[in-house]
Amino acid sequence: MSLTPSVRRPAVVAALCAVALALTGLTAAAPSPERVAAHPYQDPSLPVADRVDDLLARMTQADKLGQMTQIEKDALAAQSDLAAYRIGSVLSGGDSTVSPNNAQTWADTYDSLQRTALGTPLGIPMIYGIDAVHGHNAVRGATIFPHNIGLGATRDPALVQRIGRAVAEEMAGTGIDWDFAPCLCVARNDRWGRTYESFGEKPELPTAMATFVTGMQGATLGADPASVLATAKHYLGDGGTTGGVDQGNTELSEAELRSIHLPPFQEAVKRGVGSVMLSYSSWNGVRSHAHKYLVTDVLKRELGFSGFVVSDWAAVDQLDGQTGFTGAEIATAVNAGVDMVMVPHDYRKFLTLLRGEVDAGRISAARIDDANRRILTKKFELGLFERPLTDRSYTSTVGSAEHRALARQAVRASQVLLKNEGGVLPLAKNAKLFVAGKSADDIGNQSGGWTLGWQGRSGPVTEGTTVLQGIRAAATDPSRVTYDRYGNGVDGSYAAAVAVVGETPYAEMRGDRPGAMGLDQEDLGTLARLKASGVPVVVVLVSGRPLDIAAQLPDWKALLAAWLPGTEGNGVSDVLFGDHAPTGRLPVTWMRSASQQPVNDGDGKTPLFPYGHGLTYEERPAPDPDPTPEPGDKACTAQFKAGSSWSGGYQAEVTVKNTGTGPLTGWSVGWDLGGSTITNLWNGSLTVAQGRATVRNSSFNGTLAPGATASFGFTANGTAGTPAPGCAGT
Ligand code: BGC
Ligand code: BGC
Repeated sequence: MSLTPSVRRPAVVAALCAVALALTGLTAAAPSPERVAAHPYQDPSLPVADRVDDLLARMTQADKLGQMTQIEKDALAAQSDLAAYRIGSVLSGGDSTVSPNNAQTWADTYDSLQRTALGTPLGIPMIYGIDAVHGHNAVRGATIFPHNIGLGATRDPALVQRIGRAVAEEMAGTGIDWDFAPCLCVARNDRWGRTYESFGEKPELPTAMATFVTGMQGATLGADPASVLATAKHYLGDGGTTGGVDQGNTELSEAELRSIHLPPFQEAVKRGVGSVMLSYSSWNGVRSHAHKYLVTDVLKRELGFSGFVVSDWAAVDQLDGQTGFTGAEIATAVNAGVDMVMVPHDYRKFLTLLRGEVDAGRISAARIDDANRRILTKKFELGLFERPLTDRSYTSTVGSAEHRALARQAVRASQVLLKNEGGVLPLAKNAKLFVAGKSADDIGNQSGGWTLGWQGRSGPVTEGTTVLQGIRAAATDPSRVTYDRYGNGVDGSYAAAVAVVGETPYAEMRGDRPGAMGLDQEDLGTLARLKASGVPVVVVLVSGRPLDIAAQLPDWKALLAAWLPGTEGNGVSDVLFGDHAPTGRLPVTWMRSASQQPVNDGDGKTPLFPYGHGLTYEERPAPDPDPTPEPGDKACTAQFKAGSSWSGGYQAEVTVKNTGTGPLTGWSVGWDLGGSTITNLWNGSLTVAQGRATVRNSSFNGTLAPGATASFGFTANGTAGTPAPGCAGT
């Protein structure tokens, strides 16, 4: 392992300095050239494997069992227990927090715990884990990125890798070494309350987005000062349970399990993911945590996973269906291949039982050594022995402008335009607009679960920009934007009404929807008020999954799936106003009705919108610094009109109009083909690239006086949809 001089945590020689540090409260000891390694394991110039061997040979049984123990920070009866019980890892569960909640306090808390952990004879640092599943989401003021379902819609693995890096930097700024992310679940039933944690329903999407692992860890673990250990979770088949039941039973043949759920883990292992978390769920009735074949034979041997396996929260003590640990449960899990147990509370009982199983020979010493080797290897690789404390130089990256700009970009790229009748979108920035809906002005709703709390909640939970704030900021005159949550006061004077509606925050266990999957009464009431005004309604759907909206869709001119965008709501308005054309594609199949669930690409069912669907429109040209038309300004519009259609095909006509003040000598019109193919085109010349058609004028119809029109027509295979072509004049 190589050490960078710019260390992530101030260098100390743990064993020598730990006690002194604990006593003096020293925070930073600069890397000193004269520091000496008393033992080989303390020598960073030695290969990691040698350091592990040396350390292992010095460890007592208590040291080893402690390394396999992970506890919730708030479970510590006394902080000194961390050292007394030789506990190897601490986590913050979804509702674990610090007060006041800011990056500083998190870093202080981390350092204080780490100093305690270092106060053992061998000075082995603890490793601290947290669920930073869409940004460092426990920390107030952190950048909250779109949940994975939105990132899946971007189809942009490089962007996801950059997000991984940004999250790692924010985590490093609070000291935290280990992220329980990414969820590489393949969500096959939208009833599942964790559907939004999935990048998409087809294995290739989560597989492609395993770039998050590389973003977070770096090319090699610990080579970079902000490198954080990633977790591929939840192994295996969490998104495949019957009925989409959280923690349920995945009933599949081995061939199906392997082809649908295994590929993302294979990719994560290739990328060197440091840890894998097991799933609460079962495969054909056997819990993952008890599944030696899946964990040891497939993951560790066949895929060659060399990191460590962590159990899920209290999952081991659920194995016998009753709460409370038994020795038998612990032996089953450890022998199946669990290396570290997320206890997370009763560490005394857990350690007593674990020791009992080892002493009775039901868990072998070799298995304990293997688990320790795996855990310690990652601690060494991360550089924890050299840099156990927070590198405060990263603390200012928490919620930084740079990270928020990246999140805004991700929000834009994740928007999926599902309907745009008559080209109602993009909205004009000077239009008189009405905005409504319970999620228009609510950071909590737009962030969803796992945001400042396990289940998330509505309201101003953290700093950010709501969708409404984004709309107001983009409008030429914010006073032309009227907002009422319930849609009261809307009338026919508005150019459009934007309704931001959908789901309120939820997470695992509480988020399953076994019954109806439609909008709630409040949303339906708001939408009815908007519809009654006769103004075109644009719906922005904030939700963790597709909803059952087929009955309302005819009332809406446009539908934009915004997923759970996080704190940067201006990424949504960027698309609404056409500063950025929508490019997102559905990462999941959109049900025609809840009764279709599960509905997935290729299953022969006819959905409302297929997997991969997503419309677009021309971006608005950059705003003219001087908006008054000048003689000679070139401008045109294109009006798409579907003509006759037949089974499998249609005919359409497009009218081009010179809307500028001077003559045009040529024009070009572009639109998204939405899967159709043009078979014959007249009065223009066609080029097709990346699913988009571009038509240029013919020699005879390019010259247009101001106000004059020309048209072209075509026949095509497929369905016409509602394209909104853009026009450029020369
Ligand atoms: C979840 C995991 C999470 C863990 C720690 C569990 O309930 O299933 O995804 O990492 O808690 O918060
Ligand atoms: C914790 C979560 C955990 C969940 C599981 C919650 O209290 O905060 O982290 O995933 O319990 O039951």
